[in-house]
Amino acid sequence: MTRQILVTSALPYANGSIHLGHLVEYIQTDIWVRFQKMRGHDCRYMCADDTHGTAIMLRAEKEGITPEALIGRVWDEHTRDFAGFHIGFDHYYSTHSEENRALASKIYLALKDAGLIDVKTIAQMFDPVKNLFLPDRFIKGECPKCGAADQYGDNCEVCGATYGPTELKNPVSAVSGATPVHKDSEHYFFKLGDCEAFLREWTTSGTLQSEAANKMQEWFASGLANWDISRDAPYFGFEIPGAPGKYFYVWLDAPVGYMASFAKYARDNGLDFGAWWGQDARTELVHFIGKDILYFHALFWPAMLKFSGHRLPTAVYAHGFLTVNGQKMSKSRGTFITAASYLDAGLNPEWLRYYFAAKLNGSMEDIDLNLEDFVARVNSDLVGKFINIASRTAGFIHKNFGGRLADRIDNPELLSAFQAAAASIASHYESRDFGRALREIMALADRANQFVADEKPWELAKQPDAVARLHQVCTVALNGFRLLTLYLKPVLPKLAEEVEAFLAIAPLAWNHADTLLVGHSINAYAHLMTRIDPKSIEAMVDANRQNLEPAPAPVRHAEAQAHAAQPAAVAIADTISIEDFAKIDLRIARIAHAEHVEGADKLLRLTLDLGELGTRQVFAGIKSAYAPETLVGRLTVMVANLAPRKMKFGMSEGMVLAASGDAPGLFILSPDSGAQPGMKVK
Ligand code: 2FM
Ligand code: ZN
Repeated sequence: MTRQILVTSALPYANGSIHLGHLVEYIQTDIWVRFQKMRGHDCRYMCADDTHGTAIMLRAEKEGITPEALIGRVWDEHTRDFAGFHIGFDHYYSTHSEENRALASKIYLALKDAGLIDVKTIAQMFDPVKNLFLPDRFIKGECPKCGAADQYGDNCEVCGATYGPTELKNPVSAVSGATPVHKDSEHYFFKLGDCEAFLREWTTSGTLQSEAANKMQEWFASGLANWDISRDAPYFGFEIPGAPGKYFYVWLDAPVGYMASFAKYARDNGLDFGAWWGQDARTELVHFIGKDILYFHALFWPAMLKFSGHRLPTAVYAHGFLTVNGQKMSKSRGTFITAASYLDAGLNPEWLRYYFAAKLNGSMEDIDLNLEDFVARVNSDLVGKFINIASRTAGFIHKNFGGRLADRIDNPELLSAFQAAAASIASHYESRDFGRALREIMALADRANQFVADEKPWELAKQPDAVARLHQVCTVALNGFRLLTLYLKPVLPKLAEEVEAFLAIAPLAWNHADTLLVGHSINAYAHLMTRIDPKSIEAMVDANRQNLEPAPAPVRHAEAQAHAAQPAAVAIADTISIEDFAKIDLRIARIAHAEHVEGADKLLRLTLDLGELGTRQVFAGIKSAYAPETLVGRLTVMVANLAPRKMKFGMSEGMVLAASGDAPGLFILSPDSGAQPGMKVK
């Protein structure tokens, strides 16, 4: 039976670049969608940019452009990045669309009619200079628990405490630097508490993964708070009908963006919107998301759908986070890798698709991209095992048989085993256990290689009486290769297309596994995939690190040095102009305080006194060379105008200069006696 499936991935915010962490989800969804399409199902993949909110409004203002111009530019970047990784959306829209405005308003009004909207006056932090209510992320201050400076309004990066923005000590607006004041305003709430009976039932109805369903129980136990769905002007978003000056909170209209993307697509393609979103829709609705936004998709969204007269999701599939080399992606380590930088480094997107697929198993566990393992695995599986089958046999078909495969297969056992695997491989794709699917496919590739190794076509080619055998062996091997290509096609769509051209066959669908290719002419073999050169990985990591750090030079930031795990630069860096150099504000600093950082092997936390310029907190990777107490009171040189960086342990507001080279040791710089804290170094 043909299934009709509407599939979505979470809508990425329109204020940042797509990075490899995002790609886990888009690649996961895309593989699943391609698999469904190959099975002959009517599957439509919808997505859009998530464009509203204060952050986008402020970023546009900072860039001196309108929010519309900003989101237009980001849409171009996002769609280009996604296309670069072969993410085959059927429609990629924007939440800033008329369809979304109309649908969000309609849903809101239906919830209001159902008595599920409440209006209450609440006090919030307000920036009196910008005349703006401040989201938690735009308020900074000292942690109420541990006193760490420069913490955001929702949680402390140093001690991990969570709190409300009103609890911060000495709060400042990150937008203007002003001290925020408390100000009352009316807010609109969605009465989630009233939906509890429905949600309890729905979340245990098999729609969620078991890990997610368990999480739900914790949330029910701590009580469902009503949800604040309005924000005051100025806000980039949709004004709430009947509430001038009040806007829908971005998370209200974001999931409606799934619907709006489909509405536009349905109109352009003559589909019946109601058959996919109406209360009685028989189609499937499947959301792929990250585990961090489960709350929105498993509570708010189904409640919004249910009580506004729409169908409910058939499944919500959450995946875990991406770590790189076993750690959270990090800008200073160069492992916060953007999609564009991966492609710019000349890396093949299908290598990453394959690696992520190999790691995905349909659970919410985090997945790790280990860069060394990535190189080894792709080279061994894709080039060493898969491509190898064709590259070792195709030439003989051309040289000896005019490009034509044998008319029949004499010993079909091996290929029958390949064909018989179709059902179980399909079931692994269906359950999103892509790792298992690939293990099964690679086990078949091993068998095909063993067959070629045993039959040795290169030797058969030398024996005049083995012509028929040679034809058989190469025909069997290439049929095996065709079936492996079919099974890998959801993961490697571009490569599959090239194989289809090489084999001169129609686009492979899943049921083509029932047939074999005999008496058929193929095209000349051209090499299909190269090995990963580890140097391009290094270049990519460097490029991402350089987004943040100054170019490596003989003297460089010790913390970056410690993480970089690579030899100090041996050559002098490219020349820069005197103007470039003048941009770096180097200052004499007195180390007022130095201490170990709990949980960090390489870092010391330094408080640097810049005289009249105040103090700065800097994390420096010099623990291996200095005991903190030996540093206190010492003068050194710091980069004072380096953009503050949020690190795991807090903000680092500058950089201490230290020398290092091939010989062991780190040496922080000191001025001659007489220099005073705050003096400029030129
Ligand atoms: O977390 C995020 O990146 C959000 N932009 C996801 C939105 S998903 C959907 F609900 F729109
Ligand atoms: Zn704290």
